[in-house]
Amino acid sequence: MKPVVAPFPAARFRRARKSPAMRALIRENTLSVSDLIWPVFVRDGVDVEEPIDSMPGVSRRSVDRIALAAREAAELGIPAICLFPYIDASLKTEDCAGAWDPDNLVNRAIRAVKDAVPEIAVMTDVALDPYNINGHDGFVVDGEIINDATVEALVKMTLAQADAGADIIGPSDMMDGRIGAMRSALEAAGHQNVLILSYAAKFSSAFYGPFRDAVGASGALTGDKNTYQMDPANSNEALRLIERDLNEGADMVMIKPGMPYLDICRQVKDTFGAPTYAYQVSGEYAMIRAAAQNGWIDGDKVMLESLMAFRRAGCDGVLTYFALDVARAING
Ligand code: PBG
Repeated sequence: MKPVVAPFPAARFRRARKSPAMRALIRENTLSVSDLIWPVFVRDGVDVEEPIDSMPGVSRRSVDRIALAAREAAELGIPAICLFPYIDASLKTEDCAGAWDPDNLVNRAIRAVKDAVPEIAVMTDVALDPYNINGHDGFVVDGEIINDATVEALVKMTLAQADAGADIIGPSDMMDGRIGAMRSALEAAGHQNVLILSYAAKFSSAFYGPFRDAVGASGALTGDKNTYQMDPANSNEALRLIERDLNEGADMVMIKPGMPYLDICRQVKDTFGAPTYAYQVSGEYAMIRAAAQNGWIDGDKVMLESLMAFRRAGCDGVLTYFALDVARAING
């Protein structure tokens, strides 16, 4: 594409900006409620909604409250929610067996949502960190996060979630070979219509801090995740990972975090044309909320601007803790 620009004054770009009507006609991208996936935190108990200090406006909800939240999201037109469990420290183990328990918190929440709100798509997270005594996404043996045994456990976790009714499986663990293993296990188990949204390009990021508080993993985490999550300096590697996961059977791919990695989003969309998502992660959310609470920025405007940026960068959708607020703002 070659932009043609007449010399001034034949070209006056401000003509096209002179009124809301002209700006609406000229606008290149749109943000709509159907672009949103809403991440929510599940905890035990009944009728509980507990605020998370590091993420103002976000809470952990008991399963019954998750179903109510899903109803609200569906009524606003949000197509999908994504479930993350808060597991009490006393229940974390070295073998992470809670992760594939058919009756664990997430699997109960999937069933509750599918019962109460069948029209909303339910996405899950696949990684061992909420269940792991040391906070890592994989098994730790002699200080090493081991790959292949972790993949076997993740496959069990995937099947339990699919059995419970999950529509979209979201592997966030960054082990090698997991997408292929999950895809063939899903096919063999008769779950051929379960989608995989791979966290394909997931960077080892300090922007996940508030999330780790939210799921109770910050206290548990020993060391960092640098041997499995990506180096923030790399973009060629991100493209190779996306290609690898698409070849192994991912239906949709994700870049994470979001705003600091919009260059990766654009490259991924241009290179593969696959359904592409970004995760506006907890630290991005917390920064906007904190500045807004201090009166330093207009929180609603920054929220909408930040989400439009993902669309401009080529994303088909965004996982965002702002989903409900955005939907309300868009619906008026
Ligand atoms: C865990 C997981 C993380 C997030 C989603 N799944 C944190 C991590 O990798 O440590 C981060 C989400 C956020 O920060 O909002 N596998």
